Amino acid sequence: MSRDYPFEIQSLTGAMGARINGVNLSEDLDADTFAAVTDALHEYLVLVFSDQDLTPAEQSRFSQRFGPAEPHPYGSRAGVNNEHPEVIVLETKPGRRGARNDFWHSDISASKEPPALSLLHARIVPEGRGDTMFCNMYRALETLSPAMQDMLRGLDAMHSPDAIRQRNLAEPDTDSPQIPANLASFRHPVVRTHPETGRDALYVNTFFTTNFVDMTKEESRPLLDFLMDHATQPENVYRHRWQEGDFVMWDNRATMHYAVRDYDENMPRRMHRTTAGGDRPFLKGRATAA
Ligand code: OGA
Ligand code: MN
Repeated sequence: MSRDYPFEIQSLTGAMGARINGVNLSEDLDADTFAAVTDALHEYLVLVFSDQDLTPAEQSRFSQRFGPAEPHPYGSRAGVNNEHPEVIVLETKPGRRGARNDFWHSDISASKEPPALSLLHARIVPEGRGDTMFCNMYRALETLSPAMQDMLRGLDAMHSPDAIRQRNLAEPDTDSPQIPANLASFRHPVVRTHPETGRDALYVNTFFTTNFVDMTKEESRPLLDFLMDHATQPENVYRHRWQEGDFVMWDNRATMHYAVRDYDENMPRRMHRTTAGGDRPFLKGRATAA
């Protein structure tokens, strides 16, 4: 059941996503508006605000109302300036191809407390290119058979930062510095309970997840592939077509996303990215790994 919102809100697909009109995110939102935005995020998972123009300081302030906004934990991306290392620049321009994100993932799921939210502000958009796709991981779980859901509820999976390391090593011409080889992997439940909505979501992704705990990589791969195909069916996806000034935020605890790489360095793209909050993934009623 949808609540009454104090702004115009428009559902974008059957899977997820909503557009909010009439809210200026560069202003310090009053408590009622902020609470309504939070509720809308819980209901729709991805929120789109168009025609925004936030300075890095304003993007940081808005993000931090949801929880701490940190610089990239692996130092794998630069901040916009010294004052705002937590506002990360994703940039493609001549001579700089930009870091890849063309794989389904949930942001930095290989960290101990992965960011709850990610927020992207489009500053430069290659016309008609560089879309971002999102899928609904509550729905991915709920549309599996009861027996499959039960099995997944009994599993943990390993998430490794080596994926980012390998990506950056493979692309030395991007703005992605090399990161250490010895960063720890983390073990997370395959089904996680959202701490604010109480709903359970599937929580594996092809980029960071290496294997199910107590299974080999070879045994894990077919099941992971099946789950990714299942989660990313067109009916479960919202594809955002960027316009300059768009501000899009999503909940990493209940979605995955994929940055479509159909542009090159002659088609500049510049996004400002923040993350907010983050907690140790858990499944209600199941012990969390040490
Ligand atoms: C990210 C990401 C998507 C995009 O910043 O984590 O996946 O479209 N970006 O740039
Ligand atoms: Mn991402």
